[in-house]
Amino acid sequence: MEKIKRPAQAQAVGSTIQYGKSKTEIPANSTYVCETATPYVMGHTNPERRRLALQASILRPFTERLLREAGIAWGMHVLDIGCGVGDVSMLAAGLVGRNGSVTSVDVDPGALETLRQRAAAEGIANIACVQTDVCAFLPGRLFDAVVGRHILIHTSDPLAVLKHCRDLLQPRGLAAFQEYDFQLIPPSYPSTPLRDCVFAIMNGCFAKAVHANIGSRLFRLFTEAGFAHPDCRVEFPVEGGPDSPCHELLAETLRTILPRARVLNVPGAADIDIDTLEQRLREEATITGAGLPGSMMFSCFARRL
Ligand SMILES: C[S@@+](CC[C@H](N)C(=O)[O-])C[C@H]1O[C@@H](n2cnc3c(N)ncnc32)[C@H](O)[C@@H]1O
Repeated sequence: MEKIKRPAQAQAVGSTIQYGKSKTEIPANSTYVCETATPYVMGHTNPERRRLALQASILRPFTERLLREAGIAWGMHVLDIGCGVGDVSMLAAGLVGRNGSVTSVDVDPGALETLRQRAAAEGIANIACVQTDVCAFLPGRLFDAVVGRHILIHTSDPLAVLKHCRDLLQPRGLAAFQEYDFQLIPPSYPSTPLRDCVFAIMNGCFAKAVHANIGSRLFRLFTEAGFAHPDCRVEFPVEGGPDSPCHELLAETLRTILPRARVLNVPGAADIDIDTLEQRLREEATITGAGLPGSMMFSCFARRL
């Protein structure tokens, strides 16, 4: 439960996300949608890819610490499942260096194309992208480690996915995953009624649409899938003030799921004014001066038996 500063090199800039020297152009209003059999609840659109990059800029320190602590190191060959626009892949690629490699798997070709462009802009040459459903991924080789962030929550059978990942690992190979838990909502102090209302709609929708308690389930999933002594913990960023990127992230996450929340009759979803939400969240943060906890995120790593 600690506040972690976002690194200066990762920040949202208008309709681009800036990482160090390179800017990733992800148009905010594209309607490109990928054809896939996998029902990814957040959608395969450019606004979603942009939301992922914004979220990643907030979560980067958490994920970097997990990967280092888990033992992702120089020369390893790593599989990143559900890589999205590639933030975890790029972190891993830096840790394994040019003698190692990262294989990045996603069903979304648009996300993989963004990852390719970002990697090229950063001069990262050790990432290979594969467009496939993770369950259908049979690479004909074994990896030293498999990593994933916010992927098990979206799969129909998270245990089957973890077992599949175990089978793709060398003996004593490593797994490291991060997953939210939307059943546990850390309160802000002082209280922030608008933000609480947004979380209630979001969490109500996720409870009906995905494995909303996947974070709490991680430890048991790891043991059931054949990993020894999982090291598991929960943490979340605490942001504050009008300039925090968490306002945009919260508003854009709600915008993404609002149509579904309305269909599911989630309380509060029908009434919220989504177009003014981000500004109202900023105003509430200014008036209250509150510390604003993000969603709870479980981190878990272990070696296969
Ligand atoms: C919430 S995003 C997380 C992206 C990335 N791991 C991150 O943390 O920034 C989930 C990603 O998983 C992908 N995905 C969902 N189901 C999948 C599946 N069955 N196989 C491969 N990728 C999948 C989606 O396309 C999406 O890019």
